[in-house]
Amino acid sequence: MTDQDTQPEFKEPKKWRVHHLMQAKRAGRKLTMITAYDALTAPIFEEAGMDMILVGDSYGNVQLGYGSTIPVTIEDMERATASVARSVSRPLIVGDLPFGTYEHSPQIAFENAARLIRVGANAVKFEGGAELADTVKLLTQSGIPVVGHLGFTPQSENALGGPRMQGRGDAKQKMIEDALALQEAGAIAIVLELVPAPVATEVTAALDVPTIGIGAGPQTDGQVLVWADMAGMNDWVPSFVKKFADARALLRSAVEDYRDQVQDGTFPGPENYKSN
Ligand code: KIV
Repeated sequence: MTDQDTQPEFKEPKKWRVHHLMQAKRAGRKLTMITAYDALTAPIFEEAGMDMILVGDSYGNVQLGYGSTIPVTIEDMERATASVARSVSRPLIVGDLPFGTYEHSPQIAFENAARLIRVGANAVKFEGGAELADTVKLLTQSGIPVVGHLGFTPQSENALGGPRMQGRGDAKQKMIEDALALQEAGAIAIVLELVPAPVATEVTAALDVPTIGIGAGPQTDGQVLVWADMAGMNDWVPSFVKKFADARALLRSAVEDYRDQVQDGTFPGPENYKSN
């Protein structure tokens, strides 16, 4: 008997909702997620068939010019989430809770999560393990689906000593326990960032809810990438990112052509203006 004989069939949804995630995992249908922060890029990613859009706090690095995600505010995330939500209909929209908006108490987390849900997020994500299980529980019971985030958690980069693999050695067991605690509390999926592939495979096997990997190898239930990295908007990308295009070169070349044609008088041409 093959996996295909035993796995339930997955019917592609018209609109991705939380229950589709576990159905996809059971059917062995890999999940696709990409970040977006605005109404310009999100519809392109929807057209390209992304299942989920993460309005990540990587917004801080990618578009706001910060060196980390730490300065990002709930107002920043609210505006970015609202822009994405206004421009797509099919993908599940996950809004990231930024640093300082959820760690202190479940009630504070609820109030900030509600701000993202009000502007159109279908779920929120925040970083941390079992210590946030009560927060996951309160939000879930209040109608706010939660995506967990384990492994390297960029908002804790100061405590973690920078972007480093997490979950090696004895830390593996703790990561599995954290993942189970988040699932038990109601998390609908868990992002695993910078985790050795065999550890991500074990966490994935231990859970009923899907794992979404970034720098965690091929055995997670889905993958997520920061759009600007995968599209080649930056010259340097981390080794776990594949550049699927060279969008930076394409855009630069278009703007250079524009500059040249303005300077040599070929733009605007007769087709670009009216004579009467
Ligand atoms: O903010 C973000 O883009 C993220 C991904 C890296 C998972 O959290």
